[in-house]
Amino acid sequence: MIRMTVLGILCWVHAAAAGTHSLQFFGMATSKGTGLPQSVYVGMVDDVQYTSYNSTMDKPVLLTDWMNKINGREFWKKRTWYILQNEQTLKWSLINTVQHFNHTGVHTYQNMGGCELHDDRTKRAYLSHAYDGKDFISFDVETLTWTAAVPQAVFYKHMREANTELQQIILDYFRQECFQFLEWCLQYGMETLQRKGKVTISYSIPCV
Ligand SMILES: *[C@@H]1O[C@H](CO)[C@@H](O)[C@H](O)[C@H]1NC(C)=O
Ligand SMILES: *[C@@H]1O[C@H](CO)[C@@H](O)[C@H](O)[C@H]1NC(C)=O
Repeated sequence: MIRMTVLGILCWVHAAAAGTHSLQFFGMATSKGTGLPQSVYVGMVDDVQYTSYNSTMDKPVLLTDWMNKINGREFWKKRTWYILQNEQTLKWSLINTVQHFNHTGVHTYQNMGGCELHDDRTKRAYLSHAYDGKDFISFDVETLTWTAAVPQAVFYKHMREANTELQQIILDYFRQECFQFLEWCLQYGMETLQRKGKVTISYSIPCV
């Protein structure tokens, strides 16, 4: 089941509609003792994976070469910070959720989020979480509110709303950082992105 969930994070990756560019991430924390890394992170720009990280690594690895130019390294530094921050948040979420439910054994906590720029200049950002592979809670970037997908997640909503430091980090991320980085990628990586197109990850896994 855990293995399926690991593969499952890639199943979340879907091609965006034509006329849309997107920056997306998929993160997951897993209980200790599975033999799998306790956290995994995948970052995509359009349909190209640009970074990969898991808790057995010192730091995230950059998978594209076009970020090594202009102010790309500055963006990469910030990105590294966000990826490691996301790992902390996921671990914190997993520990608190497992504790809240008095669960034992192996559990997973996932988040996925991103931002989109459409050709008509409209923008969209989103963030949602899953516990044990099921929708748990989501964050509305417009209204800045957490919405529990299941009644059991209400405690988490309160916990997040009380954590002003984390709230500020996601506000900065989803209101600015995500779009700024996506725009930069489109400006400096566009050629590569178009050339690589949609072949970077091939999905041989049936997505359920
Ligand atoms: C974690 O990272 C290591 C080192 O890059 C890699 O060999 C391994 O396949 C990764 N595991 C997962 C589940 O991503
Ligand atoms: C978890 O255990 C504590 C103490 O035994 C109990 O008060 C609480 O209601 C339990 N929580 C759930 C969700 O069952």
